[in-house]
Amino acid sequence: MKHMLLIKTREQLIAHLSTFKAKHSLGLVPTMGALHIGHAALVNRAVEENNAVVVSIFVNPTQFNNTADLEKYPQTLKADIEVLERISKDIIVFVPSIDEMYSEEVKSVNYDFGGLENIMEGAFRPGHFDGVGTIVESLLTLVKPDKAYFGEKDFQQLQIIRKLTKIRKIPVNIIGCPIVREANGLAFSSRNERLSNNSRNEAAFIYKILKSAKKIFGTKSAKNVKDWVTEQFEQHPDLELEYIEITQAKTLKPVIKKQKNKKYRAFIAVYADGVRLIDNIALN
Ligand code: PAJ
Repeated sequence: MKHMLLIKTREQLIAHLSTFKAKHSLGLVPTMGALHIGHAALVNRAVEENNAVVVSIFVNPTQFNNTADLEKYPQTLKADIEVLERISKDIIVFVPSIDEMYSEEVKSVNYDFGGLENIMEGAFRPGHFDGVGTIVESLLTLVKPDKAYFGEKDFQQLQIIRKLTKIRKIPVNIIGCPIVREANGLAFSSRNERLSNNSRNEAAFIYKILKSAKKIFGTKSAKNVKDWVTEQFEQHPDLELEYIEITQAKTLKPVIKKQKNKKYRAFIAVYADGVRLIDNIALN
């Protein structure tokens, strides 16, 4: 029986990829493991669109601003491999150690993403996007994929990675993939595993409110919508709102006054059971 190729070092990965024909298309799906249906959607798409696919599984320490969050991050390599094997046994799984990805110091590069890094996730998780940028740049320059796949679940991350490839002139096509949700509307996340059954049900409230926000945004100002969302969470006994933001979809600049020809998006971060959950929705 054929087994999937599991590669642990940069050297082995480079050697393996060097056998790959230049005219073939290579896809990369970076992940931190604890794979769920949201990740699987990215991998499926990559497998459909490329001749070969690398899925990286690496819990990147430099993007965690909170040590407890890093320590509690689920590590489920055996189950992850099973998820990937069900998609395709031709997937190349790259599972490097920390030393392999950070040979000198476990430290981030400081990036200037033109302000994208200072709001929302960037404001509440200092250094987070420097860590994400560092590891994604390193993976992109190592694998040199034609296409790399990222979820809109982390929409700000997706826009920052697009910016990263521009400022570093990395020749890759960044593919944004839609958010995959559980049956109750909660966006799939590796962190959902840390929720009690009860909180997992309660957390469906987040998407419910985002959908209502979208409706209200049709006739009301961004400020009205944000105030309304804030009130809904104030009344909820178990969920704690960290932020609700409405921005232009591309620039992530907060809306001052709505304009007809612009696309807007709402972003939210909420604590449930001490677990931090994020979500977002296109408003028009
Ligand atoms: P991770 O949280 O494991 O997510 C890996 C990829 O899966 C990201 O692009 C993320 O947006 C996407 N994803 C997660 N949940 C999703 C969902 N419900 N629907 C659609 N896509 C979803 O994001 C990271 O890892 C890291 O920051 C990484 C980019 C790997 C750098 O370390």
